Amino acid sequence: MEQKREQWGSRWGFILAAMGSAVGLGNIWRFSYAMGDGGGSAFLIIYLLSVLLIGFPVMLIEFSIGRRAQTDAVDAFKKIAPKTGWVVAGGMGVLAAFLILSFYGVIGGWSLRYTMAYVTGGITGDSSEFFGGFISSAVSPVLWQFLFMAITIAIVYLGVQKGIELSSKWMMPILSILLVLLAVYSLTLGGAQEAFAFMFQPDWEAFTDPSVYISAMGQAFFTLSLGMGAMLTYASYLDPSERLTSSAAIIIGLDTLFALVAGLVIFPALFAFGLDPAEGPGLVFVVLPNIFEALGGVGALVGFAFFLLLSMAAISSAISLLEVAVAYFIRKLNMSRKNVTLIVGLIIFLLGVPSSLSQGAVEITIFGASFLDFMDAFTGNLLLPLGGLIMVLFVGWTWTKKEILHHGDIGDNALGPAYLLTAKFVAPIAILFVLIIGLINW
Ligand code: TRP
Repeated sequence: MEQKREQWGSRWGFILAAMGSAVGLGNIWRFSYAMGDGGGSAFLIIYLLSVLLIGFPVMLIEFSIGRRAQTDAVDAFKKIAPKTGWVVAGGMGVLAAFLILSFYGVIGGWSLRYTMAYVTGGITGDSSEFFGGFISSAVSPVLWQFLFMAITIAIVYLGVQKGIELSSKWMMPILSILLVLLAVYSLTLGGAQEAFAFMFQPDWEAFTDPSVYISAMGQAFFTLSLGMGAMLTYASYLDPSERLTSSAAIIIGLDTLFALVAGLVIFPALFAFGLDPAEGPGLVFVVLPNIFEALGGVGALVGFAFFLLLSMAAISSAISLLEVAVAYFIRKLNMSRKNVTLIVGLIIFLLGVPSSLSQGAVEITIFGASFLDFMDAFTGNLLLPLGGLIMVLFVGWTWTKKEILHHGDIGDNALGPAYLLTAKFVAPIAILFVLIIGLINW
């Protein structure tokens, strides 16, 4: 029996949901530590270039595949190009959904734990000891990861309109307001000048470091939710007559703005207290509690606002990761959304347990990195760009010019030739180039 496919209630519902997917731990937790490690402005410039030259075409391409096929990430390729190898991009996408959400749920759990800590008085004393003690215990982080996954599962369980769309409509405005308030506050703490210099004053030396290129491009893919069919799946719930180009521009513009403002929350406060931006993945969890404590009375409230923001951003992204796998298995197994969501969600939770344990409870390392850090780098810096590359080649080289423009909703305007050129040459060459640099310097 064919089940009727769900659709968004409105175009803005789609935009907010896609924004919810894009804006997440990537914009705050990952962006700040990657930029801290990448020397600040050099990373920022390469990241912005990647967003423009690669992010925009890849998002439009994922949107066009999804809206055209009106089905999940695997079936989309089978439907448009039956009996070809392109479907591998869809398979990789579903795999990536499992892998990314497994560790994403761990960090989401940490964020919930911290939100709770600020409800009950805040984190005082040595924050790195608190963080280290928490993440290295065997049980507590797993319970918080479970809670995070349970919330994510509950939303996806309710469906496209009643779960994903409705929750995004609530969370995104709250998130934006909280973020702006926090940035205004942080800029008054005295570290604004140093933060601006760190973020915006180019340090030419850093451009010669190949690892900055791969991490900046990986960040562009990760933060825009590209390369694994999340945007493809969301666009498949659009009516074929909906506009795409302006939606992509809005989503990308706001996601980038969100990362920059998040930088203006974190770095001024960090410099105001003389802390180190190259702290690594623990940055927001170790550095920020020091700051919140030093703020005195309002600290607990500011800390609560920050980690609530981080948790909501993480949830609205996690649902898009889960939805990629759920959409696929609903069709593949011809089972109800509710059952599929529960089963797939539980499996992903279990897959994440090793990531959680790898933070100190048990020694699990791959290539010298903890299991979690390895999964993060492997998916973000390798799997997503590779998936994106295959999708760009698929559309750029197997669709006719007319199809590319029509399904990309570009039409016959000045953007058309530029988009064709980018889809065929600029984006694939840029991705390939950075991937090769990355592999050589592995
Ligand atoms: N973009 C989200 C973030 O920045 C994470 C995310 C959600 C994602 N869906 C994705 C990353 C799909 C890659 C692919 O936190």
